[in-house]
Amino acid sequence: MAIIGTDILSVKQLLCAGEVVGIPTETVYGLAGNAFNDDAVLKIFSVKNRPQFDPLIVHTDSIAHASTFIISFPDKAKQLAEAFWPGPLTLLLPKSDAVSDLVTSGLSTVAIRIPNHPLTLELLASLDFPLAAPSANPFGYISPTSALHVENQLGKKIPYILDGGESTVGIESTIVGFEGDDAVVYRLGGIAVEAIERIIGPVQTVSHSTSNPKAPGMLKSHYSPRKPLLINPLPEILQQYSPNQIGSLTFDHLVDSIPTENQRVLSPTADYPEAAKHLFAYMRQLDSLPIEVIYAELLPEKDLGRAINDRIRRAAVREV
Ligand code: TXA
Ligand code: MG
Repeated sequence: MAIIGTDILSVKQLLCAGEVVGIPTETVYGLAGNAFNDDAVLKIFSVKNRPQFDPLIVHTDSIAHASTFIISFPDKAKQLAEAFWPGPLTLLLPKSDAVSDLVTSGLSTVAIRIPNHPLTLELLASLDFPLAAPSANPFGYISPTSALHVENQLGKKIPYILDGGESTVGIESTIVGFEGDDAVVYRLGGIAVEAIERIIGPVQTVSHSTSNPKAPGMLKSHYSPRKPLLINPLPEILQQYSPNQIGSLTFDHLVDSIPTENQRVLSPTADYPEAAKHLFAYMRQLDSLPIEVIYAELLPEKDLGRAINDRIRRAAVREV
C-alpha cells in the first residue's frame, strides 16, 4: 500500500533519495523519478514492467529549465511551447549531455513536457532536477486518471502517490517532433491537431505505426482493458452475446438493447474535452462490470475525437 496524500515535502524527500512516486498531471498520473539519477530511472522501468527501449518523458517547470536539456530549440517548437506549456504537449528535441541515454533509450532526442497541475508544478519548483515519468500504469494497460487507479495497480511497489484529484484532460499529451523545419505529430493527445496547426500551420501526423515507431507507446496493443473491446456493429455482437453480457462505450447517446447500467456515455452534450476526461475511467469501470465484452463506438474524426478514437482503436485488439 502506498501512502496517498498531498505532502509535497515527503514526496520531495523520497525523490531526492532515489525513490519513484505517483504524481498527478492534467493528462494522466505519472510514475516519477529523478531524471538525473540512473538508478531512479531504472526503478521506473522495473516498477512499470516497461521495456528499456521505450523512452521516458522528462517533466520540468519552465522553458528556461527545458532549454538546458537540449542543444537546439527550433522556432516552431518554441512557438508551441509558448502557446501550450504548461499543458498536454510533449516536444521531442535534440538532447544535451545533461540527459542520460537511459531516459531516451539511446535516442538523440529527449521528450520534454511542462505539466499543468498545481501540485506537480509546486513539486517541480522545489526540486533541482527534472522528473522522468511515464504514465503510472503497468505496461500495456489503461492509463490512470486518479490516485486510486495508481494505487490499485502499482500501490504495492511505490511508497507514495501525490493526490491531485481526477486528471482534467484525461488522455496523454500530444507528442510533436521535428524533421528539419517540419513538425510531425507522433502521438495524438490532449491538444488537438487543429489547435497546433493554428499556431504553426499544417503538420503531418504519423501515428499507428507498429514497426520501429518513433513513439513506441503508440503500439497497437496499448490502452487495453482485459475484456475484449469491439468496434464491430452492435447487431453482429448481439448474435454472439446476450444483451446483459455486453457493456457499451459511446460518445453522446445510449444504445438500444444493452442494459442501461452497462452503458457509459462519454459526454451526453457531445463535448470532446468532457469525453476525453471520462474515457479511461469509463474503460476501467466497464472492465470491472460482470460482462463479457465491450461494444465501443468511434467519435467524429475531429478535435479531440481523433485522439479518443486512436485509443479506442488500440484497445480494440480482438475480434468477435
Ligand atoms: O501525458 C503524458 O504524456 C503522460 C504524463 C504522465 O506526462 N506521460 C506519458 O508517458 O504518457 P508514457 O511514457 O506513457 O508515453 C510517452 C511516450 C512513449 O510512447 C514513448 O515511446 C514516447 O513518449 N517517447 C519518449 N521519448 C521519446 C523520444 N525521444 N522519441 C520518440 N518517442 C519518445
Ligand atoms: Mg503510457
